[in-house]
Amino acid sequence: MNIIYFEKPGKQNTDETLKLAVERAKQLGIKYLVVASSTGETAKKALKIAEGLNLVVVTYHTGFIGVGKNSMDSETENFLKQNGVTIVRQSHILSGLERSISRKLGGVSRTEAIAEALRSLFGHGLKVCVEIAIMAADSGAIPIEEVVAVGGRSRGADTAVVVLPAHMNNFFDMQIKEIICMPREKR
Ligand SMILES: Cc1cc2nc3c(=O)[nH]c(=O)nc-3n(C[C@H](O)[C@H](O)[C@H](O)COP(=O)(O)O)c2cc1C
Repeated sequence: MNIIYFEKPGKQNTDETLKLAVERAKQLGIKYLVVASSTGETAKKALKIAEGLNLVVVTYHTGFIGVGKNSMDSETENFLKQNGVTIVRQSHILSGLERSISRKLGGVSRTEAIAEALRSLFGHGLKVCVEIAIMAADSGAIPIEEVVAVGGRSRGADTAVVVLPAHMNNFFDMQIKEIICMPREKR
């Protein structure tokens, strides 16, 4: 199967990324589509085309955008849930508690180094795909079987992969089986 490369990262690639992700999931008989969505905008786009798939939307943890605040408003969240979407909101695996220590004391944790290596070499979207697959698995929203994961650069989607997820205590069991699409330029 051909990998689709977008020229630049960003939300202008959202519709095409979601279309390719759904197509590939159906070709492979994959049951779960895992999508990063901060505000719910990308989630709503995915919902329109993901019929027949279990849609799992991973969003920012409460507090990411300000103490006690959620990035997705409750109206959007309820709409998604009423339409059968599973919402995952939990601590971010590739920053975690270490983020507080780096901010306060300096240095960088091994976890953050993994995140930065994925971002720098493969782009933000792919780092997000890895992170949300683990978060979804650790929330019990997906089983440990091949799923399609979708991430992007700040907003929207530009990267989709077929991934065998793992839990956070078995990170190196994870496998990126296929890259469906990604931006050529990573920054
Ligand atoms: C847990 C999580 C981690 C994310 N990490 C990054 C990141 O490191 N870099 C980045 O550019 N975007 C990151 N994002 C943003 C997503 O890739 C995606 O573009 C965004 O959630 C889409 O939100 P929207 O539906 O509001 O457009 C992250 C999103 C989530 C939910």
